[in-house]
Amino acid sequence: MTPVARGPIGVFDSGVGGISVLNAIRRILPGEDLIYVADSAHLPYGEKPRAYIEARAQRLAAFFLEQGAKAIAIPCNTATAAAVDALRRRYPELPIVGIEPAVKPAAKLTRSGVIGVLATTGTLASERFRGLVEREAPGIEVLLKPCPGWVALAEEGWTPERDHIVAEPLSELLGKGADVLVLGCTHFPFLIEPIRRHAGDGVVVLETGEPFARQLHRQLVVRGLARESAGGMGTVRYLASGAAGEAARRIARLSGQAVEVRQLPPAYC
Ligand code: DGL
Repeated sequence: MTPVARGPIGVFDSGVGGISVLNAIRRILPGEDLIYVADSAHLPYGEKPRAYIEARAQRLAAFFLEQGAKAIAIPCNTATAAAVDALRRRYPELPIVGIEPAVKPAAKLTRSGVIGVLATTGTLASERFRGLVEREAPGIEVLLKPCPGWVALAEEGWTPERDHIVAEPLSELLGKGADVLVLGCTHFPFLIEPIRRHAGDGVVVLETGEPFARQLHRQLVVRGLARESAGGMGTVRYLASGAAGEAARRIARLSGQAVEVRQLPPAYC
């Protein structure tokens, strides 16, 4: 099917993480209609095998195409690492935009020569991530820190009793001299307050929501698929593969607005 400019953009993540990027997409591409799928029945992606995540991405891509999507945005580092190449091979006519940890700017910004990357186990173990580090951070010490506990914390909500889950990985990375921290998972910007508090003022914390949204915009413009807003906002439809009510509560808590979340059709769950 040939993509057309009036079609929606399909956006997915394992849960609420992509909502941190959705906000940037809404700011930079306000006229676009979006379909956001929280693949919450399969959360967390970060601890599952690559082939499993690729199969989920293929299933969700088929759903988006059935909805007439003109592009697929993957604001999920784990799913990008596992599946973006396979999706692009399968749907060469479709813009498919993935996300990657901000290793390149971190390598430019560090003064100590040590950067810390906090992400999922799947992202850090991927070939795509290894290639990124080899290409963009030669000569830099790159410390890798899988943080599965942070994904659960972002989903369920930070509480003072669980603050140590944020503090421990940070103190390890800072103790080894990291002066730039890369949030390589889209769930982590939702923990930005405790992260900044523990990291302190001298440490730079990078995430990639804005650059991702700009890249999506560029890809649409290049292919003549952008829908410039004439003042009006596009729509956002939310769906979840897991419990829709719980997904709605989580998205509302993190986006600050009430949302309606529908159940993803069973064939795609
Ligand atoms: N938000 C995702 C990422 O950016 C995945 C988190 C998870 O489900 O483990 O990697």
